[in-house]
Amino acid sequence: MNYFICGICGYIAMDSAPEKCPVCTAPKEKFSQNDAIFEESKAKAAEGAAKHVPSIWVDKETKLYPGTEFVTVHAKIGEVPHPMEEKHFIQFVDIYADKKWIKRAHFTPAVVPAITAHLKIQASKITVIENCNLHGYWINETSL
Ligand SMILES: [Fe+2]
Repeated sequence: MNYFICGICGYIAMDSAPEKCPVCTAPKEKFSQNDAIFEESKAKAAEGAAKHVPSIWVDKETKLYPGTEFVTVHAKIGEVPHPMEEKHFIQFVDIYADKKWIKRAHFTPAVVPAITAHLKIQASKITVIENCNLHGYWINETSL
């Protein structure tokens, strides 16, 4: 997989760099390719995957608007709670539907790094990418 990182906001595009960053609107020139970005994170995380890899689960029958086709996607970082301290915390989590970015949540150390998105679109694959200020980017995905 080819990954392109926005030098302004840290958004990661898959396959190719967009004309404009969907998160911060930075132009294509601000993107740089790094296909090993997730391997680099694994190499520098002493705590390993358990605290960093996003866990994803899907409610196909949303409680938000019962009877609709909306699908609710939840993600938390990771299986074991990641530290949320001033010097070490999850900065943001992005959710993608079929490789298209749909939502970002920013975090401070005061909150649990978890995100929910209520999809009104049809998608076959959900990807979640998180950014730890010390240990970089981590990715996971699930099929709907
Ligand atoms: Fe970390």
